[in-house]
Amino acid sequence: MGAAAVGASMLMSASQTRARVASHAERIEALIARMTIIEKAGQLNLVGDPFRFRPQNVNPLDGQGDPARVTALIREGKVGNLFNGIGAEAGRRIQRIAVEETRLGIPLLFAADIIHGLKTVFPVPLAEAAAFDPDLAYRTARAAALEGAASGVHQTYAPMVDVARDQRWGRVVEGAGEDVWLNEVLAAARTRGFQGERGLADRDALLATPKHFAAYSAAEGGMEYNSTDMSDVTLRSVYLPPFQAAFEAGALSVMSGFNDLNGVPASGNRYLLTQILREEWGFEGFVVSDYTSEQELIAHGFAEDARDAARIALMAGIDMSMVSGIFLEHIPDLVEKGDVPMARVDEAVRRVLTTKAALGLFDDPYRGCDPERERIVVGSQAHRDLAREAGVKSIVLLKNEGVLPLKASGQRIALIGPFADDVENVFGPWTIWGDESRRISLEAGFRAAMADASLLTVAKGSDVEAPLDGGIEAAVAAARTADVVVLALGESARMSGEAQSRTEIDVPPPQRALAEAIAALGKPVVVLLRNGRALELSGAVKDADAILVTWFLGGEMGHAVADVVFGQASPSGRLPVSFPHRSGQQPYSYDHKTTGRPADNSLASQEYVARYRETVNTALYPFGHGLTYGDIRYGAVTPAQATLAWNGEVELSVEVTNAGARPVEETVQLYIRDRVASLTQPGRRLRDIRKVTLEAGETQTVRFTLRRSQLEFIGAEGRPTVEPGLFDVWLSASAQTGEPATLRLTPA
Ligand code: NOJ
Repeated sequence: MGAAAVGASMLMSASQTRARVASHAERIEALIARMTIIEKAGQLNLVGDPFRFRPQNVNPLDGQGDPARVTALIREGKVGNLFNGIGAEAGRRIQRIAVEETRLGIPLLFAADIIHGLKTVFPVPLAEAAAFDPDLAYRTARAAALEGAASGVHQTYAPMVDVARDQRWGRVVEGAGEDVWLNEVLAAARTRGFQGERGLADRDALLATPKHFAAYSAAEGGMEYNSTDMSDVTLRSVYLPPFQAAFEAGALSVMSGFNDLNGVPASGNRYLLTQILREEWGFEGFVVSDYTSEQELIAHGFAEDARDAARIALMAGIDMSMVSGIFLEHIPDLVEKGDVPMARVDEAVRRVLTTKAALGLFDDPYRGCDPERERIVVGSQAHRDLAREAGVKSIVLLKNEGVLPLKASGQRIALIGPFADDVENVFGPWTIWGDESRRISLEAGFRAAMADASLLTVAKGSDVEAPLDGGIEAAVAAARTADVVVLALGESARMSGEAQSRTEIDVPPPQRALAEAIAALGKPVVVLLRNGRALELSGAVKDADAILVTWFLGGEMGHAVADVVFGQASPSGRLPVSFPHRSGQQPYSYDHKTTGRPADNSLASQEYVARYRETVNTALYPFGHGLTYGDIRYGAVTPAQATLAWNGEVELSVEVTNAGARPVEETVQLYIRDRVASLTQPGRRLRDIRKVTLEAGETQTVRFTLRRSQLEFIGAEGRPTVEPGLFDVWLSASAQTGEPATLRLTPA
C-alpha cells in the first residue's frame, strides 16, 4: 500500500475507533458511576498472567504468579488486565471469569510483549531498521499482530521508539537505532502495522504501545536504568519525535520509562505524562507504567513509601500500574483521605475502559479466542516467507574485497565460530513464544543453499565469551582444507536486550583469538557478525576480506544469510547505528554538532581539536553505510546551488550508477545541515530517503523535493522553527560520504 493509501485508511481506522468509543460512552459513564473504589483500582491494576505463563526470564518476578490468587482477585474486580500470557482457548476461560463471575462483567485486557513476532520470529527491530524500509516494518508488524490477535492478545508493548545513541546500552537492539527521522518513520509504520487499517476492534488489530516515555535510552554511561539529564531542546529534538509519530499513526497507549529525567523519574513525571502528552499533544489513550517503575519512585528517592509512590505516579499521569499492585492497594485510602481526587481516578478508569471499548471488548469480550483461527494464522508459511524476506533485507555488507558472493558449488567452505551451527541465538532477545522447531542455523541455511553440502565443514572454535578446550586447533584444522573461511562471530542473544549494558562493545576476546588463528592461515575470510548493537571491530575481524552484519534475524536466519552469502540476493541493508572505531567514542551518533574546533579527520593526528588521542572522530562504518554486490557510483548533487522560496519547493537530484554486473537496490539518503542558526545544529541530519533498483550498468537520476518543513529544528522555545539562510544538502550513500550542494532558503 502506498503512503497516501495508508494515510487515508488510517484516518478511516481512527474514525471507526472513534465511532465505536462514542457508542459506548454512556455505558462507560454508567459503569464508572456504579463502580466501587476497589473496582476502579482493579481496572488500573495489571498483573502478569499466571495461567498461561511461559518462563523466559524477561522480567524479575517472572513465574511468581499464583493462578488461584489471581482468579480470586479477578472475581473481586481487583484485576482488570493481564499480560504475557497467550492462547485462544485458555484466553476464553480466563475472560469468562471476568465477564460472568464479576459484579460488573467488565472484560479483561490481555497485553503481551510481542516485539518482533510471536510464533514466527522476525528480525530484531534494530536489524529490520537496517532495511530502511517502512513498508517492510509495516508488514512484519502486521504479521505479528495477526498472530498475536489470533492468540487472544489485545495489546502489544511495542514498538520501542527510544532513539539509541549509546551502543553500550543493551536495548539498542529493540529500536530503530540512532537517527531521529528513521525512528519516526519506523515508529509510524510499526504502529500502523500492529493496529491495522480497520480500527482497533478488528480481529487482526493489536493496540500499539510505544515505549519507554521518555528519554530512557539516554541513560548516562549507557548503563541500564540509569538517570538521564538533558535540555528540553534535546528532549524535544531527539527523544520525543518518534513518540509523536506513533501517536499520529494512532497509538492509543504508551508505556512510561524506568529512568529519572532531569531529576524527576519518568513514571512520576507530570511534565512528560500530562503537560506534554495530554495538554500539548492531546493524547487520548492510557499510560501504563513499566514493570514496577512507579513503585521504584521510592528507590529513586522521589517517594516516601508505596502509598506516596502511587499518589505521585497517579497524579503525574500514570493510568495503569504494571505488576507492583500499589494502585490496587493504596488508591482507596488515597481517595478517602483526599490525597487523590476521585475525579483523577475516574479519568484513568475512563481511559482504560474507553480503550477496552475501542478494542471491541464490550461488543465481543472473546475476540481472538478462537483456537481454530489461531491454528491457521499462527506460524503460517506466508509469515515464514516474510521472515526470510525481512532477514535478507536486514543484512548489511560492510566491506567486500572480492570474496562475496560465495559459490554454491565447487568451493570448499569452512564455517567456523560459536554461531556456526547454533540455534539458541537466531531469535535474539525478546521472544517469548517463538517456534523453537523453526530456528534455522547458519549451517542448515548453508547446507540447503549449497549444491554439494559435503564441501562444507563446520567447527565451533570458541564459546561466545569463553575459550573452548582444543577449539582453536580443531577450527584451524577444518579451515586448512577449505578454499574460504566463514567466521560466525559476535554477541549471544543474552548479551543485548534489557539489563545487558556493556563497557566494551567488542567481539568477545576468545572469539577474537579464534579469528587471529584463522587469519594466520592466509585464506580468504568472510565475517558474519551476530549482534544487537554496533560493535567495535579490531584485528583479524576488522581486516577480514568481507564483513556482513547479520544481527539476530529470527527463525529463518540461516536461510536469509545463505541467500545473501551465496548471491541469491544482493545485500541492501544500511547501518541504523554507526560502528565506531573505539568503544570509548560512545555515545556516538553521526548527527553530532561540529563544535568550535572540528577535527580534520583525514589527518592521523592533530592537536587542539575535538577528538580523542587514540582515534579519529568519525565512525569506522557510519550510519547509512551498506554495500551491495554492484559497484555504485554517485554523481554530484544538482543544482550545485539552489534556492527555496519560503512557501515553495525545490528539486534536487543525483545520478546514481551501478557499474557492477548484478542488479542491486540502492538507498539514496538526503541529509541537510543548517549552516547558521539561532541554536547550533548537527553537522548532518537525515531528512529523506529513496530506494532505487539499478540493473547492471544502469544509471538513474534520483530526485528529491525539498520543502521548508524539512529544514525545521526545535528552537529555544521548544517549538519547531525554521530560519532563512544557507543549508548544505547531501544526496549520498551514507552519513559520511558525498559532497553537498548549497541551498538558500529565502525569507517569507
Ligand atoms: C520491562 C520492559 O522494560 C518493558 O519494555 C516490557 O514491556 C515490560 N518489562 C513487560 O514485560
